[in-house]
Parts: sequence; structure tokens; C-alpha cells
Amino acid sequence: MSKGLFITFEGGEGAGKTTQIRAVTEWLNGKGVEVVPTREPGGTPEAEKLRDLLVRRDGGNWTAEAEVLLFFAARHMHITDVIKPALQEGKVVICDRFTDSTRAYQAYGHGQELEFINKVNDLVLQDFKPDITFILDLPAKDGLARSERRQSEIGSDDSDSEDRFEKLDVTFHEKLRQGFLEIARREPERCVIIDALQTPSSITKEIKVLIDKKMGGNNG
Ligand code: TMP
Repeated sequence: MSKGLFITFEGGEGAGKTTQIRAVTEWLNGKGVEVVPTREPGGTPEAEKLRDLLVRRDGGNWTAEAEVLLFFAARHMHITDVIKPALQEGKVVICDRFTDSTRAYQAYGHGQELEFINKVNDLVLQDFKPDITFILDLPAKDGLARSERRQSEIGSDDSDSEDRFEKLDVTFHEKLRQGFLEIARREPERCVIIDALQTPSSITKEIKVLIDKKMGGNNG
């Protein structure tokens, strides 16, 4: 039985997950809570190697099934080596993306069977899942505009940049959005939809209240 809290952040491109994860981590640290911020695909040396194969434009031309299995191979390493040990030590693990991203991107976005993903999920994770999932929701065109601004700021236009999925068109990103909303409808006890068009500080405020409630406190 884990004692910690497993929080995941989900959403399309440009939803502001990184900013929120940073703000929530600082806030929890300030309360003396130990936090492990991490991400998927990735979070361990092996899983980061798989990340390169999955998210870079030149990472490989995988079949849809192989791609899903690679995401779960990375996830298994991450859960075994990082997430479960941290939870057992009572820490809060905050993960940037998890299985809901595989559902949204590979199934709702790319048309892979949701049933296949859920079956692999059950096999690999059994009943392990996040305690709470924040889905940062905004229209696809707004998210894409934000992520394009970020790409031009960091000047990444080379073939090895991590934008294999970001480069897809607005129709794909709208399907993702609908996918995340459907996931939240199916699991309302775990998922919270957050309006990501709000200012970053209002979003953080909303999330803090929900985490406090989940931790059974109200201190700050
Ligand atoms: P990031 O941009 O949030 O770092 O995520 C990396 C990319 O990988 C992003 O475009 C979403 C994609 N992705 C999937 O397609 N399936 C998954 O299961 C995960 C975790 C990420």
C-alpha cells in the first residue's frame, strides 16, 4: 500500500503543464512536503532513451501497436524504478503525462483501438493509477499557438527536436482535446478538468485547493 500521493497532469500541447508543475512543486516544498516531479515518456535513464525514439521526428517509423508498447515499456521502468519507491516513502509524485496521454494521443488522436491500450494498461499496471489527474483544457488552436511561440523562442527547427506530435494539424489536436474530455467523463472520481485559458496563477490556485482537499488538509 502506498502512503504518498500520485498526481498527474494531462492536456494537449501548450496547455501550461510545465508552469503548473513547477508552481505546485514549489508550494508543496514550502509546506515541507517532499515532491518528485517527473515526466513521461521518461523519468529514468532507460525510459528517457525510449522517449528519444518516440517523440523526435527522426525517432523511427513504428507500427501503431509497437508505439503503444514502447510507451508502456517506458512507463513500466518509470513506475518500478521511480514512482512506486517514492510513493512508498510517502512522497508526492507529480508526473507530466501518464496513461491518459496514450489514450488521448494514440487512440483518440491516431485511431489506435482504445481497447488495446486499456488491455496493455491492465496487464502492465494492474490496478495502479494516479490518485488525481488534472486535465488542462483549452481549444486546440490556442494550445498550438502557444506551443509555436515557445518553439520559435527556443529556435528549434531541426529534425531531432521533440515535436513529432506537436507538428500534427489542428484537427488532430482537436481530437486529442475531445479524447481528454471523454477520459474525464469516464473517470470523474480521478480526473478534474481545469480551464487552461485562465491566468497561470488562477489555475495554480484552483489546483492547490484540490490537492489540499486530497491530502486532507487546508494549510495554505
Ligand atoms: P511533452 O511535449 O508533454 O513533453 O510530451 C511528449 C510528447 O509525447 C507529446 O507530444 C505527447 C506525446 N505522448 C504520446 O503521444 N503518448 C504518451 O503516452 C505520452 C506519455 C506522450
